[in-house]
Amino acid sequence: MKTERLTSGNPALDRLLGGGFEPRTLTQIYGGPATGKSTFCMVAAVSCLRAGGSVVFIDSEGFSIERFRQVAGTDADAIADRLYLFEPIDFEQQGSMITEADKVLKLHAPALLILDSATALYRTDLERGQYAMQQLTRQMLQLLGYAKRYELCVLVTNQVYMDTTRNTYAGLGGTSLEHISKAIVRLDRLEGTGWRKATLTKHRSRPEGQSFEYEIVQDGIRAKAQGPVS
Ligand SMILES: Nc1ncnc2c1ncn2[C@@H]1O[C@H](COP(=O)(O)OP(=O)(O)OP(=O)(O)O)[C@@H](O)[C@H]1O
Ligand SMILES: [Mg+2]
Repeated sequence: MKTERLTSGNPALDRLLGGGFEPRTLTQIYGGPATGKSTFCMVAAVSCLRAGGSVVFIDSEGFSIERFRQVAGTDADAIADRLYLFEPIDFEQQGSMITEADKVLKLHAPALLILDSATALYRTDLERGQYAMQQLTRQMLQLLGYAKRYELCVLVTNQVYMDTTRNTYAGLGGTSLEHISKAIVRLDRLEGTGWRKATLTKHRSRPEGQSFEYEIVQDGIRAKAQGPVS
């Protein structure tokens, strides 16, 4: 059984996660607009591709080739042919593309599957209420099934909503998405600065609440210089 963690491509995030993404599980990154969710995904994809692996990338926001080129630099053309890209245009298609991805997983045995974002299209389906929630849970369970069957790491991003009872932003998708994700990282913008903060909010074998600060740069994410994660 594969137990070795897969590097996220960012040393600070690896430290936070206890070495990187855990195979056979779902890792979730959630946060508000422009907190860096897609950038972390891009960094992880490029890192895996550079190491010689394949990546399935399901991008519900429309994949930015320009950003991929910025993060991958001069490697972009050489590594792009192992990137298997799906771009669903609605939530239903997101479900059918997750099903379709099975063929790529069988054929190319990627180490990493990314869904960015699980809930961007779901948001527009919110009025369908319970049904949309069930579909989201079904999609996530299918991804978890892939993670186990193919021993791969799954990274999903998640949008937020304002939880007025707790007066804070919370991840969409309710408790089912929270339960299915074995590690969860929350991203926040630090008001009035260019800095952002990544906080571990759930993990099976690491203390929660640890964090690091970072900024978004041309080739990805740059963590603030620091000692061990505090
Ligand atoms: N080349 C770059 N150099 C510096 N910052 C950049 C660069 N490209 C994008 N950014 C910044 O990255 C941020 C967007 O990051 P990203 O797309 O990862 O956020 P996100 O959390 O995925 O947002 P959304 O919720 O809208 O999907 C913006 O603030 C943008 O200004
Ligand atoms: Mg994004």
